[in-house]
Amino acid sequence: MDIILAKSAGFCFGVSNAIKILDCAIEKNSGKIYTLGEIIHNSQVVDYYKKKGVLIASDVKDIEKDSSVVIRAHGVSPSVLDSLKEKELNIFDATCPFVKKIQELVSSKYKEGYKIIIFGNKNHPEVIGINGYCDNTACIIENKDQIFDLDINTDKVCVVSQTTQKREVLQEVFEFIDKKFKNAIKFDTICNATTKRQEEAKDISKIVDLMIVLGGVNSSNTQKLYEVAKQYCSNTLKVYDANQIKIEDLEKIKKIGITAGASTPDWVIKEVLLKMEELEKEELDFKSLFEESLVTLHTGDVVEGVVIGVNEKEVYVDLGYKSDGIIPKDYYSIDPEFKISENVKIGDKVKVFVINVNDRDGNVLLSKVRVEQDKFKKDLVDYFNNKTVFDVKIVEVVRGGVVALYNGVRIFIPASKLGSGYVKDLESYLNKTVSVRIIEVDKRRGKIIASARDVIKEAREKELNEFWSGIQIGKRICGTVKNFTNYGAFVDVGAIDGFIHISELSWDKVKKVSDVLGIGQKVEAEVLDFNKDEKKLSLSIKKCTENPKDVFIRNHKIGDIVDCKIIKFLNFGAFAEIEKGIEGLIHISEISDYKLNSPKEVLKLSQQVKAKIVNISEDKKIALSIKAVEPINPAKKVEEEKLKEQEDKEEKEHIEEFENTIGDMLKNN
Ligand code: F3S
Repeated sequence: MDIILAKSAGFCFGVSNAIKILDCAIEKNSGKIYTLGEIIHNSQVVDYYKKKGVLIASDVKDIEKDSSVVIRAHGVSPSVLDSLKEKELNIFDATCPFVKKIQELVSSKYKEGYKIIIFGNKNHPEVIGINGYCDNTACIIENKDQIFDLDINTDKVCVVSQTTQKREVLQEVFEFIDKKFKNAIKFDTICNATTKRQEEAKDISKIVDLMIVLGGVNSSNTQKLYEVAKQYCSNTLKVYDANQIKIEDLEKIKKIGITAGASTPDWVIKEVLLKMEELEKEELDFKSLFEESLVTLHTGDVVEGVVIGVNEKEVYVDLGYKSDGIIPKDYYSIDPEFKISENVKIGDKVKVFVINVNDRDGNVLLSKVRVEQDKFKKDLVDYFNNKTVFDVKIVEVVRGGVVALYNGVRIFIPASKLGSGYVKDLESYLNKTVSVRIIEVDKRRGKIIASARDVIKEAREKELNEFWSGIQIGKRICGTVKNFTNYGAFVDVGAIDGFIHISELSWDKVKKVSDVLGIGQKVEAEVLDFNKDEKKLSLSIKKCTENPKDVFIRNHKIGDIVDCKIIKFLNFGAFAEIEKGIEGLIHISEISDYKLNSPKEVLKLSQQVKAKIVNISEDKKIALSIKAVEPINPAKKVEEEKLKEQEDKEEKEHIEEFENTIGDMLKNN
C-alpha cells in the first residue's frame, strides 16, 4: 500500500503560535490559566492542556480575578478585549496575524463609511470576532445565493472572507457581489496556509483510492479540506483520530492519501500512520516515512521558502519543514528604514540562511541578509582579484580607521588609507561615500581591508596626465585666482595652479596685482610656457586681448597728424601719449627749426601738441614730429610767454581795482 502524506498536513503557523503562547503562559504563571474557548478545534490537544490544568472559559465572566487568559488564534472582538482588560487579567494574545489583519481592515473600512460583508460561518469565533470591529453591523453570508437577499441600500460595500474559506467559492461570491453592488471593494483574506492545504488535498485526492482527512469535529478548515478532497476522490473519510479508521475502510486500497487540518497535531498524524502499519502488518518504518515527507534542515543550510505571514517585526516563512521559519526584520533587510508591510507580501518566495533550526522558542531562525551578504562577499573577492574600484559608505569610526559598508558587508579602511594623506579627524568622514579598492581579504578572520588613498592617487595621476596632454603654448584655459605675490598671481586651472606674471596681467602698466585681480575671480588666460616635469605653467591674461598698439597701427599711417600730450623728457627728445597706452617719441630735432639744447626749452609736461607720425618701425615704435606740423620758434616762444605774463598781470590788477571800488561803495552805503 502506498501512502502519500500531504506536506502541509498539521499545525499551521497561527495554531503553532497559539500553542507556543499557551506553553509560555503555563511556564511563566503560577496562577490559574484560562483559554477563552477551546485553544484550537482539536479535542486531543484540548484534553492535553486540560490535564495540565488549563481551564476553558466560554465567557469573560467565568474567569476568576488575578488569572491569566490566552486569546486563541481566532481572535476576539474589541468589546471582549475591553472586558478582559477591565478585569485586569494577565492577557496573552495569540490571535493569528492573518486574522488580526482582517480585523484592522474591517475597522478601517467601517470608519470610512463602508458597509461590511463577511463571507463565512456566522457562528465561527473568528467571524464573530471580526464582526466586533464594525460594531457587529456586518452582513454575514455563507453562500453566494444569500447576496441577492441582502438589504443594503448603499453601493459602498466592503467584502472580506473568513480565513478558512475555499478560494473558488470566494471568487464566485465576488462575481455575485459585483453584479449587485457597483462600487464594492473586495478583499481575498483567505489565509495562504488554508489555500496551500486545499490545493495539496486536491492534487493528492485526484490520484489515490482513499483519502483520509484528519481534524477536529468543529474545525472549519478540516471540513473545507474534506469538501475539496471529496470533490476529487469519492472515497474520502474525515476522522479525528486513528481509532476511527477501520480495517474494512482499507480493503483493496492500493494508494492512500492523508492530509490534516491546521489544528491537527503531529502525534495524531503519526498515530494514523502507525495504525496503518498495524493493519497492513507491514514492517514499515512509519516514523521515518513521516519524517521523510518533511524537509530536513540543518544550521547553515540555504533554502527557499514562501512567505506565509508578516508583521512589522518579523516575516514568517513556510520551508516545508515541521516548524515554520521566522526572519526578524534586521535579518530581512539591512536598511533601518525598511518597512516589512510595504515590501513583503504573502506568497513571496525568499532564499534564506538557516541560523538555527530550533531557537529557544522552537522556531527556525532564518536570515535573508546573510544569503545576500554571502553573495556580496563573493562579489568583493572578485573585486579584490580584479582590482575593481567601487563606492562604500562610512558608518563607524573604530581604532585606527573607519568601517564602511558595502551592501551590509563591513570593510575596514585604515586612517592612513582614507585620504590623500594621514587622516586625523576620522569623524568628519562619517556618512560620506568614498571610492575604494580592496587591498586585503583575510578569509580566515573574515576581514576585508580597503584603501581610498590608492584610488585618490590614481585619479590624481590620471587627471594630471589628461591635463598635460591637453596643454599647448597658445591654448586658452579658464581658472580661478587663488592667491597673489608681488610678482603676479596663482590661478587654479584644475589639475594644477598656473602663474601669471604681473607684466602679463594687462597691456597697461600694472603697479599692484590687486589693482586688477581679486581672489576667487574667474579668468581666462593663454598658456605662455609649461614644464610638465616641474609642474610649472606660465599664463598670460593680456594675451587674450589684442595689443592696443596693433589696433592703433592698423588704424593710422605715416603722415597722419595726431593730438598728443607730453609725458616724459629725455636728453634727446620727449615722449608723448597719443592714446591710452600708445606713446610716440619726438626727437629733439623734430620740435623746432632752431637748435635746442633741451626739449624743456620749448615744451612742458602735460602740454598738448599736434604732431605728425613720421615713422612706424617694425618693432612698432612710433616717431612723431612737431615741426612737421608747426615748428616752435624759441625766441617767439619767449616773447609770447612774456606777453602772456604781462596780460595776466594786467588782468589781475584790473580785478583787484574793481573789487576795491565795490568794497568802498558798500562801506559808504
Ligand atoms: Fe492563522 Fe491561517 Fe492558521 S489564519 S490560524 S495561519 S489557518
